[in-house]
Amino acid sequence: MLEVDLCGIKLRNPLILASGVLGSSSSSLNEIAKEAGAVVTKSVSIEGREGYRNPTVLNWRCGLLNAVGLASPPAVKFAEELRSFNRASPLIVSLYGKNPEDFSALTEIFPMADAFELNLSCPHVRGAGMEIGRDPELSCEIVKAVKGLTEKPVIAKLSAMHDYVNLAKALEKAGADAVAISNTLPGMRIDINSGRPVLSNVSGGVSGPAIKPIALKCVFDLYKVLKIPVIGCGGITNFEDVLEFIMAGAKAVQIGSAVYFSKNIFFSLKESLMAFCRAKNCEISDLVGIAHSV
Ligand SMILES: Cc1cc2nc3c(=O)[nH]c(=O)nc-3n(C[C@H](O)[C@H](O)[C@H](O)COP(=O)(O)O)c2cc1C
Repeated sequence: MLEVDLCGIKLRNPLILASGVLGSSSSSLNEIAKEAGAVVTKSVSIEGREGYRNPTVLNWRCGLLNAVGLASPPAVKFAEELRSFNRASPLIVSLYGKNPEDFSALTEIFPMADAFELNLSCPHVRGAGMEIGRDPELSCEIVKAVKGLTEKPVIAKLSAMHDYVNLAKALEKAGADAVAISNTLPGMRIDINSGRPVLSNVSGGVSGPAIKPIALKCVFDLYKVLKIPVIGCGGITNFEDVLEFIMAGAKAVQIGSAVYFSKNIFFSLKESLMAFCRAKNCEISDLVGIAHSV
């Protein structure tokens, strides 16, 4: 009822853990993998990064604001850590780097990955993430380089801040198997007592309910122009949100900030989606893109 085929990978349900929220340990992936359709790792680079000084994650009334700064161990160390992944669901390894060479080297370090997600969209690290996605030519070269080295699905993770329709069309042509949208969107907070920005990095990425309508519109727009699957991400906290993304055209969805508040969210979303499909006498895949048929 909830099964989904994502680029040839069978997911027991369309609910995927979004990159980064749970850090870089296998034990937290293991817990989520028992219920989720798939899990995405924290983004990893060749050398690793220490990330920014605290405070790096703020909880505010419409979600989270973070500038963790893509903190992660070096790729080889992270690959060792992933040996303890329980494989209770497919594993998508999220990669980031500055050029095709970085991404190619990373692809070869993670043979245990069932798919790769290319982070072309993190808004708070110079020379990586969103800055790469702003350069469609470079982004296409990166996709081609990774596709040249692996038969596994390659997902490009974009931002609502990109010229995402043209970027996604170019990446599809370059060989991307799916796109995920959106990463966090740039934002900040100011401490009114000190008069200073709260995050040590001054600004960071907004996630959670504040960005849901924006991400939903991105999915709706991309479903119209792409043949490859779209994965929706941004502000999902309940099963109604999941259904909106699916009806907009998402084949699957990713959930990030909501996991920060409840690790049981995958179980409760799955149960509610099953009840909905039973009541409507449909499969979840029957609902993909139905908002376009009006
Ligand atoms: C603390 C934190 C760390 C994140 N780290 C990453 C990361 O390493 N790579 C990445 O592509 N996205 C990262 N993200 C973005 C999420 O994967 C997701 O795209 C975003 O938070 C929107 O989804 P949400 O509203 O469900 O959280 C991070 C988000 C948060 C809140």
